[in-house]
Amino acid sequence: MSLDSPKDIGRQRIQELATEALAQGSPTAWFESLYAQCEPEQIPWALMVVNPYIQDWLETEQIQGKATQTAAVVGCGFGDDAEALNQRGFQVTAFDISASAIAQCRQRFPNSGVNYQVADLFALDPTWQQRFDLVVESRTIQALPLEVRSPAIEAIATLVAPGGSLLIVTYYRDREDPPDGPPWPLSDGELKQFQALGLIEVRRKVFLREENSTQILQLHYKSVS
Ligand SMILES: C[S@@+](CC[C@H](N)C(=O)[O-])C[C@H]1O[C@@H](n2cnc3c(N)ncnc32)[C@H](O)[C@@H]1O
Repeated sequence: MSLDSPKDIGRQRIQELATEALAQGSPTAWFESLYAQCEPEQIPWALMVVNPYIQDWLETEQIQGKATQTAAVVGCGFGDDAEALNQRGFQVTAFDISASAIAQCRQRFPNSGVNYQVADLFALDPTWQQRFDLVVESRTIQALPLEVRSPAIEAIATLVAPGGSLLIVTYYRDREDPPDGPPWPLSDGELKQFQALGLIEVRRKVFLREENSTQILQLHYKSVS
């Protein structure tokens, strides 16, 4: 009898798929394979409810979208965060590189007002540039290796409209040495790039997950451009 939980099986599969993809120089190739091969309960990050750190921010900041306000959800996975923003009144575009993940979003939320799209952060539609009043990025940058971190950060920053907000939820490391991954927690040195791209940090909350000493950052940036 195996003692592995569904999430443990998923984590093991990630190690295999990510190792192979990275060896082939394709750091994003493993996401579609994982979604296509695993049940949702095996996907380690799939909560099937809104991320609690996003929910905390929405409630604490009393975020309410006006009918014309737009939001983008980067690497939306199974869509729960996108649905939460839509319920708060935003016109939401949610995208993921995995066609299987987006198919699941459409199946789970057949009457959704969210515009779900298969899209690659590294090859986004140019008309999305500076288009969104709110951009939410939860745990996507950390799923990408350090070699592509800079273009990932730049692509996310580009989505934010002048005067708009960016919410990041990510694992955090308080030193600059390269970590083992995936996931690869973000450092302050990496996060500084958002400031260089015209986003100012307006609020930061740090949460400690005691069972594995993981630090989780909830970061709110505002575009000054
Ligand atoms: C660790 S998961 C997090 C999913 C979701 N944001 C959450 O917090 O539950 C990272 C997600 O980013 C997606 N992703 C990875 N690289 C991407 C890229 N280049 N463009 C768009 N989505 C990407 C993956 O398919 C996956 O759904």
